[in-house]
This record gives sequence, structure tokens and C-alpha cells, in this order.
Amino acid sequence: MATERTASADPEMDRRLMAVALRLGRRNLGSTAPAPAVGTLIVGFEADVPVILGRGLTGVGGSPHAEIAALAATGAEARGSTVYTTMEPSPDPVDGVSDVEALIQAGVARVVTAMENPNPRLVGRGHAQLRDAGISVTTGMLADEARRLHAGYISVLAAGRPHVTLKLAVSADGMIGRVAGERMLVSGREAFARLQTMRIEADATLIGIGTAQVDDPSLTVRVPGLRAHSPIRIVLDTQARLSPSSSLVKGAADTPLWLVTSSEAPIANRERLLAAGVDVLPVGTGSGGVDIEAALRLLAERGVTRLLVEGGAKVSASLLHRGLLDEVVLFHAPVVVGPDGVRALAGGALSAIERSPRFRRVEEARLGEDRMVRYERSV
Ligand SMILES: NC(=O)c1ccc[n+]([C@@H]2O[C@H](COP(=O)([O-])OP(=O)(O)OC[C@H]3O[C@@H](n4cnc5c(N)ncnc54)[C@H](OP(=O)(O)O)[C@@H]3O)[C@@H](O)[C@H]2O)c1
Repeated sequence: MATERTASADPEMDRRLMAVALRLGRRNLGSTAPAPAVGTLIVGFEADVPVILGRGLTGVGGSPHAEIAALAATGAEARGSTVYTTMEPSPDPVDGVSDVEALIQAGVARVVTAMENPNPRLVGRGHAQLRDAGISVTTGMLADEARRLHAGYISVLAAGRPHVTLKLAVSADGMIGRVAGERMLVSGREAFARLQTMRIEADATLIGIGTAQVDDPSLTVRVPGLRAHSPIRIVLDTQARLSPSSSLVKGAADTPLWLVTSSEAPIANRERLLAAGVDVLPVGTGSGGVDIEAALRLLAERGVTRLLVEGGAKVSASLLHRGLLDEVVLFHAPVVVGPDGVRALAGGALSAIERSPRFRRVEEARLGEDRMVRYERSV
């Protein structure tokens, strides 16, 4: 294609193209851990009109890197182009060549990034090497959106734990289920569909043994054709009481199931679950069950960067009270459960989230009969 690849430095054009790169990166969110889900566009300009020459996104399991995939898709046309990528390219070689070297060798003219690499060992190095090679570098383009996309990777580096999102479906009277121990669907079909996307975009999803026993969930992705995108399923279960005949254990051969338990859990229980294909992970105990901070550290060490928490009341309260929630998604349903219900947060009210200065409301949408409200940590 005859493109005159003059590097555009129009901030509005840069923003628009970075928005496309961010959407591209998001496609593999939940599949690239422990690496971030980066999106890269390689663009030429014909009289200031952008022509996308190639696209790339981080591969499943983190390889190839998005820049390498985009360069491979572009070929020789990359010479003189502008590259839009959602994170600073890495100077570390992966499979023999680093992103930075590959960009230099391809002869690109300009690199626009959304943010620096948050890894203290790498921060700024990729940008510096590109500049040293005579490539023009602009950074910080749509930085807030990029920090959202890469929140899991950032959280592991900054806090040593995954980015944690709590999802709760709440009735009009502030309940998430019935005390009697029977399963109850609080929210409707549209909320369930949104939950499927949340599962796809998470590396792992977690519940407490209380929810496992009452609901017997499978926690897999139920969208036809996308079951392989199911997150790792995790249960907090101090005594390793999870039943080998539960849906979770029965599906362990297809979708990984990790049981976080205490080192004092009965050996017979642990062995029974191990034999059924469950990864049994002992940690210390804390108030209310297993030491939840140690559990999150362990998950990060095992490569989990984005954790979805699907309740129930006690696990949600434990995370909230220790300041371990980064995002909360509430599905408000019009149903009334009545006084025999399970309150959304054990020992506390939902207003601990809704009115807390620690959270700000960032999204609201109607999903069928339900209303979805999403909060993000504000401090
Ligand atoms: N509407 C919704 O969105 C939704 C979502 C999920 C659940 N639910 C409902 O919630 C109810 C279950 O709530 P729940 O509070 O009993 O269950 P839960 O929070 O899922 O599980 C609580 C149990 O997890 C174990 N655990 C281990 N470590 C823990 C820790 N650090 N902090 C807290 N718990 C820890 C404890 O048992 P051990 O001490 O034995 O380990 C604890 O009793 C059910 O009715 C279910 O249907 C509703």
C-alpha cells in the first residue's frame, strides 16, 4: 500500500487511535496472566488520514507480546509508521528478541504509549532505548483507561496481590440469598450475561465454602463456544469440607479448581480432594477463616492478576473490612427476600460500600429488571 507514513502528532488523533488499541488489548483480558493484556496498532498516515497497517494483542499466557504480534502482522510496511501501544514496550527479550529491539529493527518512526511499565525494574527503560535509537516517543495517552485495563498487572507489582472485584446480586431489601440454605437466584438473565463477561475477563473467581454448599455453582463461563475462557475457580474452605460430588469438583478436570484451606485441615479431606484433581493450597488461619491476605498473596504468586469474588456474605465482609476490594459491582434486583434472608455483608450493611468515601460510583446501567452499579476504589 502506498502510504506516506508521516508521523502524526495530533493529540486528538492520538487519543482516538489509542482508544482502538485499548479495545484491542481488552479482547484477551483474562487470558494473558501474569502478563498484562496489551493492545498494539501500527499506523501509517496518508495525508494525515490514518491507515491501520497491523494489529496485535498479547497472546494467551502472555506470549507473543502485542508489539511483536503487530509487527509480524505488518511486515515491511512498519518502516516509518507510528505505533500505538497500551503499555511501554519491554526492553527484556522474550523468545530471543525484545519489543524495543523489534520496533527499532522494523524502523518505526514514532511510538505512542498509554503508560510506563509499572515494573520498577523496567520503568522508563523501554522509552529511553527507543529515544536513543532516534524514535519519537509520546507517553501518557489515555493513561487512566490504560491503568484500568492493566489494573491486575499493576496491583500485583504494587500491592503483591491481584486486583479484586466483588460482585453481589442484592434484593430490594439488601439480601443476597435465603438463610434456610436453599439456592435462590436474585438477579435476572441480563445480569447473568454481564457476569459471564466478568468471568471471561478475570483470571480467577472466588467464593467461600458457604456459597459452595448452598448454591453448588460451577462458576464456569456459560457462553456457547467460550467455555475455555472460564476462570480458575477458587474456594476458601478452612476445613477442606468441599464435597467431592459438588459441581465444582466434578468439573475440576476441565477447569482448574483451587481450594485455599488451612494447614490444619483434616488430612483425609485434603487427600480426597487432591485425588479428585483439586489443587489444595494450605495457608495460615486468620479471623473468620483462612488468612485472606496470605491467600491473595499466594494467588498473585501463582499468576492470578485479576480476581473476581462472587460472594457470599462472609467472604465479602472479610475483604471489605480489610480494605482489599478495588471494585464492586452490585446488581440491584427488584425482588424482596424477606426477614429470612442473608444480608449482603455479614455483620454489616451495604451502605458500607455505597456511602463509603473509599469508593466512587463510576457506572450505572439497567440490565433487564435489574440495576447495575459499579464502584471503584477512590483512595
Ligand atoms: N446474591 C449473590 O450475589 C450471592 C453470591 C454468593 C453467595 N450468595 C449467597 O450467600 C449465602 C452464603 O453466604 P456465606 O456468608 O455463608 O458464604 P461465603 O461467604 O461464601 O462462605 C463463608 C465461609 O467461607 C469460609 N472462609 C474461609 N476463609 C474465610 C475468610 N477469610 N473470611 C470469610 N469466610 C471465610 C468460612 O467457612 P470455614 O471457616 O469453614 O472455612 C465461612 O463460613 C448463600 O445463601 C448464597 O446463596 C449470594
